[in-house]
Amino acid sequence: MNKYEQQISELMAKMNLDQMVGQLVQPERQFVTPEQVKKYHIGSVLSGGGSVPGNNTPEDWIAMNDEYWAASMEADEDHLAIPIVYGVDAIHGNSNVTGAVVFPHNIGLGAARDPDLMERIAKATAREIAVTGVEWTFAPTLAVVRNDHWGRTYESYSEDPKIVSEYAPRFIAGLQGDFGEESVIACAKHFVGDGTTVHGIDQGDAQIDEAELRRLHIPPYQAAIEAGVLTIMASLNSWNGLKCHEHRYLLTDVLKDELGFKGFIVSDWDGIDCLSEDFGKAVELGLNAGMDMFMVTEKWQEFIEHAKLLVLAGRVPRKRLEDAVRRILRVKFEFGLFDKPRPAERKLSKQTEIFGSREHREVAREAVRKSLVMLKNEETLLPLEKNARILVAGKNANNRGHQCGGFTVNWQGATSNEEIPGGQSIWEGIQSLAPGAILSENLDGNEANPDEHDVAIVVIGEMPYAEMLGDVRVPGLLQEYTTFPNSTPIPIDDTEVAEVYATNLYLHEMHPEDITTIENIRARGIPVVTVMVCGRPLVVEKELDASTAFVVAWLPGSEGHGVADVLFGDFDIQGKLSISWPKYDNENWNIGDPDYNPRFPYGFGLQYNKSKSSGKSS
Ligand code: BGC
Repeated sequence: MNKYEQQISELMAKMNLDQMVGQLVQPERQFVTPEQVKKYHIGSVLSGGGSVPGNNTPEDWIAMNDEYWAASMEADEDHLAIPIVYGVDAIHGNSNVTGAVVFPHNIGLGAARDPDLMERIAKATAREIAVTGVEWTFAPTLAVVRNDHWGRTYESYSEDPKIVSEYAPRFIAGLQGDFGEESVIACAKHFVGDGTTVHGIDQGDAQIDEAELRRLHIPPYQAAIEAGVLTIMASLNSWNGLKCHEHRYLLTDVLKDELGFKGFIVSDWDGIDCLSEDFGKAVELGLNAGMDMFMVTEKWQEFIEHAKLLVLAGRVPRKRLEDAVRRILRVKFEFGLFDKPRPAERKLSKQTEIFGSREHREVAREAVRKSLVMLKNEETLLPLEKNARILVAGKNANNRGHQCGGFTVNWQGATSNEEIPGGQSIWEGIQSLAPGAILSENLDGNEANPDEHDVAIVVIGEMPYAEMLGDVRVPGLLQEYTTFPNSTPIPIDDTEVAEVYATNLYLHEMHPEDITTIENIRARGIPVVTVMVCGRPLVVEKELDASTAFVVAWLPGSEGHGVADVLFGDFDIQGKLSISWPKYDNENWNIGDPDYNPRFPYGFGLQYNKSKSSGKSS
């Protein structure tokens, strides 16, 4: 990244303090106008999950970013033409936008064990982002999840850093490509230790020693930096009591100096707010720790005031400010932003038919097929015959919203078919391959009748959630939990517990309706294939016992058809657990743990009996 240094120096020589500080700022779109982008020399704008322009069509996105861009590029005596960069959470496809192809969440991709597929997914995603005139996605998530209670478990490829480190460079290559018309800027997140907090509490404390941090959580970032990732997001969690957002050792000494990261570090959503009650102090801590760009969604004007005062007072060294600005400009030059036409004039903006295209859907459908993991197949029930008399039931059978999970159209995800136009629900996929199949009227399987049905497919599992609202938190276990010497106990009260997804990992307690549906049908002597939609491994002893066959579909996204492809043996089943499967909600889950005692070990995944299956491998 050296070839632009001279140009950057020349540009910086013209910049005054306002213009420099403005580059550091990333407000959320609802809180900033194009006029303000120009007036305050804003460096970036973002959309939070579910924050969308107009009717949420690609055209609406192009129009919005075009205005921001134009404002940033209007040069006059007070303002220099420096393009803004617009960021979105395209973490499984450009899934904020209605009609996008929604890919399986990362946990399913980990089971696919296919780095080449990652690059193709990322390419398709980059195209669907570029079509909307947007340049930057906060992806991939490189968390190495070590506790399934974490509400963001599904954003992680694996509990094993090997898989994450193998996928990271391919995903980044797919997104960033040659920095051309079909490329976007990638952002590896969240640095670091987000997947290893005590009890899996989102934004909690990672209480591990440095050797463990380096062994498990840093390698994916090393791989990402080697692959040329242009940006990295700091994590909202702490490491042994100190927030990553103020962790100078992690952000500056390790990430920049030791690992040689030359792009810029962006803070997470209002992440500096919790560094101090005094916002000025928080700005100072963040800047001096090595943060370059600040996702200050609403309070960005206050940020600007504080940052300027801090630099003028010498509390933030001028060279630190200049380093941050240089890094941001470096990314903008490197990605070719200065040479790109305004969003409305870009090549892909004129090809909106690419958005949600058949070609992209095919990649997603392949990913669904490859991510399925079979835990049980008694009596070689699977694959099913297409002409069998099939009853399909379960609350997740015909709900494209549910099967997409969080970060889809809304931050917390969608709950209906209508919100996800263009794909198929799992039921719709089944119906297209087995036209004689019947959908249970109330999804509860009450009409099951052995004279009419040879087999049932019951689609069960979790419903969408995101971030801390997806946490599983066990009340009582939460008080003052600390294992690491010198760590600050985490104060968590029970009111927070009430807002999270569940209080334990047992599916029959979390969603009792699921076991009821399975047992309902099984009691009538009909074999049941259970398909589970879920963002993490759950304790499913009862559901497993009651089912004849059991397949984990994770959060497959919009292309539910891929599930049917495999259930009917058009393709073999091949997914392998990238995350160990628990038997109880209180044990050692992860490969390599002392007394490792999973229900299904890391790497587990049954395949069809080759002699029975006519399936080809995808
Ligand atoms: C999440 C990030 C996300 C950001 C922007 C935060 O709450 O932690 O992963 O990129 O919001 O939406």
